[in-house]
Amino acid sequence: MKLWGGRFKDGTDPLVNDFNSSIRIDKRMYREDILGSLAHVKMLGANGIIPLASSKKIEEGLLELLKRLDNGVIEIDMASEDIHSFTEGLLTYYIGPCGKMLHTGRSRNDQVTLDLRLYLKGYIPIIIKDLNLLLKVLYKKSEENIDTIMPGYTHLQKAQPITFAHHLLAYCEMFKRDIKRLKDALVRIDEMPLGSGALATSTYPIDREMVAKELNFSKITLNSLDSVSDRDYVIETLSCLSIIMMHLSRFSEEIILWCTNEFNFIELSDKYSTGSSIMPQKKNPDVAELVRGKTGRVYGDLITLLTVMKGIPLAYNKDMQEDKEALFDALDTVTLSIKTFNGMIDTMKIKKDIMKSGASKGFTNATDLADYLVKKGMAFRNAHEIVGEVVLYCIKENKGIEDLTLLKLKEFSSIFKSDVYNAIDLNTCVQERKVLGGPSKESVLIQLDELKKFINAIEGEFIND
Ligand code: ARG
Repeated sequence: MKLWGGRFKDGTDPLVNDFNSSIRIDKRMYREDILGSLAHVKMLGANGIIPLASSKKIEEGLLELLKRLDNGVIEIDMASEDIHSFTEGLLTYYIGPCGKMLHTGRSRNDQVTLDLRLYLKGYIPIIIKDLNLLLKVLYKKSEENIDTIMPGYTHLQKAQPITFAHHLLAYCEMFKRDIKRLKDALVRIDEMPLGSGALATSTYPIDREMVAKELNFSKITLNSLDSVSDRDYVIETLSCLSIIMMHLSRFSEEIILWCTNEFNFIELSDKYSTGSSIMPQKKNPDVAELVRGKTGRVYGDLITLLTVMKGIPLAYNKDMQEDKEALFDALDTVTLSIKTFNGMIDTMKIKKDIMKSGASKGFTNATDLADYLVKKGMAFRNAHEIVGEVVLYCIKENKGIEDLTLLKLKEFSSIFKSDVYNAIDLNTCVQERKVLGGPSKESVLIQLDELKKFINAIEGEFIND
């Protein structure tokens, strides 16, 4: 059913019908559309804008429609222009002419943004819960690897020894921020736009507060022109999703590196790897690569909407219909990526010995050798110079610092005593970094404790259904 035939003499070109239609995309908002209509019609009845008996009849019809769509008794008609035309058309088909009162004091312009806000209010908690599950898996893996020494890198060059727990907990901080960002976005999504009409509200005595209460919104939007043409909340959601993907992608890049024969720090489960059609030996980290690749796609969705919105005069313009395809694509991609990534991390095998022997090469204890001299009274810049010479010598001799005799070390500085070997032992290097945020067990336990509190708080706030 068309919602606007009266003014037209000619039918629309079939190609235009197709081009104009958004039903393939917005059909997934049928629940939100019906729930929004229910609140609207209740308000119309309660305020005498339409007869109470009619509003009750429409309510019953809408509830029946919702039930039938939920049960799959009826299907959404892809010939409809959009989900709003579909639900209104079917309602009228079910209950008769009374259904034609539903759209009193409303426009599809305020309706569509209401639907979208309702949809996000329901969907964002799902992503938050998925991220929280990922945090849980990372918590477990970190707990199991408090003592797993590995090389920490800068410029992808070995830098200082850390632990695998410390490394994983860095990603936990990122995912914690992602959750906080989504929660913050929800605050701005939680504003009720209905009543804004096409652009300038309406002349009926509508009660926007009542609709907001019915639909569990904390606030109502303040300016009708802005309400119908604001898609900041979609852009904000897409920004949050892009940052999540950026984090997953960085993590994926590390997974891919760690799986190489060169690093060999981890092995992914067969369940999360794929093979080659020609090279029998291959075991490829496709999941991590796909997460990394799909990041580009989610960034694209963000850029799509930023670009769509940049030149639109107030208020609603049809360009804005493009918002949902980008948003839904990003939501689906992020959901699938987090879930798959989670399983990949949960099942990966960590090669603790190889990580440790990796840390023992590449002079990761050189800073500690300099710090040793400083603690005995030398200025850091001088100590840095001396250790640089020690390292140069070791490279020439193909030795580690700890392989040098005390006699040899004394040639570089008479300050060196036999306690130097303990000072540059990898374990000491890690455990002496007790500063909050560092890799020592003491510090990592605090980080773990904070993580546990965070996970529990989110679990309490977003109770699983
Ligand atoms: N399908 C449209 C959208 O997604 C709904 C709003 C249509 N409004 C209009 N004035 N044509 O944006």
